[in-house]
Amino acid sequence: MVILKSREEIEQLRVSNQIVAEVLECLKTLIQPGITTQDLDRYAEEMTLKKGAKPAFKGYMGYPSSLCVSVNSEVVHGIPSDRVLKDGDIVSLDFGSYYQGYYGDSAMTIPVGNVSGNAKRLIDVTNEALYKGIAEARTKNRLGDISAAVQNHVERAGFSVVRDFVGHGIGRKLHEEPQIPNFGIQGRGIALKAGMVFAIEPMVNEGTYHVKVMKDGWTVVTLDGKLSAHFEHTVAITEDGPDILSKHA
Ligand code: MF3
Ligand code: CO
Repeated sequence: MVILKSREEIEQLRVSNQIVAEVLECLKTLIQPGITTQDLDRYAEEMTLKKGAKPAFKGYMGYPSSLCVSVNSEVVHGIPSDRVLKDGDIVSLDFGSYYQGYYGDSAMTIPVGNVSGNAKRLIDVTNEALYKGIAEARTKNRLGDISAAVQNHVERAGFSVVRDFVGHGIGRKLHEEPQIPNFGIQGRGIALKAGMVFAIEPMVNEGTYHVKVMKDGWTVVTLDGKLSAHFEHTVAITEDGPDILSKHA
């Protein structure tokens, strides 16, 4: 069952998602060669607690940290560590907050120093694919319209969409129905209605879409060792079109 949110609930979700947006914007300014991934985790957690919110991922299904930090061939769910970011890396930051009963969730991939042309293109295509998906998040459309828009943009650019992980509904729970695949067929799936709130999150690989989970039980990596990028926004479907709740003001 897909839970519809009232206008008031959407505003509460916006508050939680704006905390995520502010944290991610701040982390973005800290990204440079020499910083460790656990430095970023610590900043994210401190900033969130200072705002009176809680980091949503810490303890979720046993996840050990506040932030997910996935470098280069890591797709999602990278665990912060003493790993030092270096020039030419790309780093995906995924962050969630919990504030007054409502969740926020957003992610972005950021270049560290100077990155290769293909890395830059992968990042840009993934972000564009997210916005192609968001543009389809409107009444009179179906879920497959979002999925197909993401997949088409990615595949036209010669990259691939991860199959094994998907976006999700979000609200009083971090993960609600429906699942939102980044691949699918236009015109298929459930009808989209005002009041649905979705975390749309394309994970895009430079090579094969196949992935595997590392021995730590969390870190997802590309099977071929090539690069991966990830962007995510929490989006409310309204009568006036998509409303990006996690968009930085
Ligand atoms: N943004 C991801 C998601 O929506 C990360 C959450 S997984 C966690 O699924 F376990 F780290 F919390
Ligand atoms: Co998510």
